[in-house]
Amino acid sequence: MCQSCISIQPTDAFAEKVVEYATGGAIAMMISIGHRTGLFDALSELPSATSEELALAAGLNERYVREWLGAMVTGGIVDYDPGLAKYALPEEHAGALTRAAAPNNIAVMTQFISVLGSVEDDIVECFHNGGGVPYEGYKRFHPVMADESEQTVASALEEYILPLAPGLRERLVEGIDVIDFGCGSGRAIIHLARLFPKSTFLGIDLSEDAIKAARESAVDIPNVRFEVQDAASFDRPAAFDLVTAFDIVHDQAQPDVVLRRMRGCLKPHGVLLMQDIKMRTPLELNRDNPLAPFIYTISCMHCMSVSLAQNGLGLGAAWGRELAEQMLGEAGFEEVITHELEHDPMNYFFVSRIAA
Ligand SMILES: C[S@@+](CC[C@H](N)C(=O)[O-])C[C@H]1O[C@@H](n2cnc3c(N)ncnc32)[C@H](O)[C@@H]1O
Repeated sequence: MCQSCISIQPTDAFAEKVVEYATGGAIAMMISIGHRTGLFDALSELPSATSEELALAAGLNERYVREWLGAMVTGGIVDYDPGLAKYALPEEHAGALTRAAAPNNIAVMTQFISVLGSVEDDIVECFHNGGGVPYEGYKRFHPVMADESEQTVASALEEYILPLAPGLRERLVEGIDVIDFGCGSGRAIIHLARLFPKSTFLGIDLSEDAIKAARESAVDIPNVRFEVQDAASFDRPAAFDLVTAFDIVHDQAQPDVVLRRMRGCLKPHGVLLMQDIKMRTPLELNRDNPLAPFIYTISCMHCMSVSLAQNGLGLGAAWGRELAEQMLGEAGFEEVITHELEHDPMNYFFVSRIAA
């Protein structure tokens, strides 16, 4: 394999671009490892360090750390002083790669590349024979999703997301009933439950593992509970004042049914707050979106596939704003306002209020 790697001679701009993609994929995996092992956090706390000093600070094996540093230095992420054999993480890079930098820690997102890599064989099989890969087929999907949710949703709820529905914060303070569809490991709803102790929160998800993780994280919070439930058959008419759905509808086997379930469980004056991926439905409108290749890849290798694994519609993460608004309307959400947040290039937030 290495023979062919080193024999690549980019002869034109396009070939160079393909090499850049291959290198980018490789570095993304190393960034994921740097995040998971705490190497970026440890290096950011040292003015500079040898590989031995960094390995000691992070509690890791020096030989692996030194090879990782090789990728980081040649990838332009870490500075290196060959005279002293010392490595340093520039401050502006620490601002995009460390836990202290959340919600701007982009290292969190690189973990998805490795998660997707774990199912490549299964996805190739699907290209030949159709079908999909079930959630259980992905190593570490729920923990990585929880990490992502903590950073993009939970940390932004108070300052950015709740103000998208004027008056909602005040109602949460007074005390309302909230349900989070497809809550995963519950990061967002647990955050809300802590902020608003007079409101009650229910998180439902199909995954027993995710619900177990959510329950463990919420043992000391009395106003939140979790149930293993299929959103497509969830039927509690007019029981909730607020329905939240963070990054779940496009994954569904039956997204149309789930949207109707969400509408059906809202009380008069209830509010829907739905986050989904910031893409447009026509492919050609995504050409200038620098995140679009990432989204189509995640969609093909996860979101679309988990739905097809259940004989579902397979909408995919790139279903787009136009189709989302249409399907929300068909499910009975009459007035939908679609919001964008300046700091979040990845998501739309759809808000709808139910009439009296
Ligand atoms: C992309 S994850 C998002 C999880 C969570 N909302 C978050 O932001 O971290 C989608 C979630 O939807 C759940 N899910 C998929 N189909 C479901 C269904 N029919 N009923 C309930 N949950 C479902 C999955 O188990 C998964 O936890």
